[in-house]
Amino acid sequence: MAEESSEALSDGERLQKVLARAGLGSRRHCENLIDEGRVLVNGSVAVLGRRVALESDEVVVDGVRIGVAPGLRYVLVHKPTGVVSTASDPQGRPTVVELVGDSERLYPVGRLDTDTEGLIILTNDGDLTFRLTHPSFGVDKEYLAWVEGEPSRGTLRRLREGVELDDGPTAPARAALVAPDLIRLTLHEGRNRQVRRMCEAVGHPVRRLVRTRIGPLTDRRLKPGAWRDLTTEEVRSLERASSS
Ligand code: URA
Repeated sequence: MAEESSEALSDGERLQKVLARAGLGSRRHCENLIDEGRVLVNGSVAVLGRRVALESDEVVVDGVRIGVAPGLRYVLVHKPTGVVSTASDPQGRPTVVELVGDSERLYPVGRLDTDTEGLIILTNDGDLTFRLTHPSFGVDKEYLAWVEGEPSRGTLRRLREGVELDDGPTAPARAALVAPDLIRLTLHEGRNRQVRRMCEAVGHPVRRLVRTRIGPLTDRRLKPGAWRDLTTEEVRSLERASSS
């Protein structure tokens, strides 16, 4: 591990204070984390007394990066239908980025179809975006799908075990019936229009689709069209979910 410069030790805010504010526990507990060598700053094991400059330092606890940089922003949006989940739309349709309406550059993490509703994250944290969307890290996502007809137990089993699509079979998923025509599907993959194609393939086309959870993130009170910043603890939970 690289040695820390004396300058790095004297600038910024005390590490245990930053960690405590990020939701890692009391300052005392955070001091113990540092003492136990579980905290890295810019790749080096931090020592007690370390200060961090919030603008520039990368802080990692037990292999999980802590979102301390104030330049990073994480927003949870409830996308309504008719809104596109790209940053801009050549056809001039409204975008999720416009819903948030700030001048900062925020980008959607992954996609939801224009006709799908529900939760989507916007951020300027490219590293987290990569990990949340890359198949080898990808966090699971939960959808509510209102479908045509009433799926049987055998149909649910097919959805769970894997459905043959034109780009290959789907990976094992979770599928449960919430009402006779309402399926809760939890997927680890994120292929294009995957839920719609899976339901169609088992004979129950989707009438309405809502994403209700992204990994650890859910918010039943967030209304369509509304958004909010994620809490530090939520950002940490996303970091954890996407680092295994
Ligand atoms: N699956 C779909 O079919 N559409 C989405 O928008 C997301 C998942």
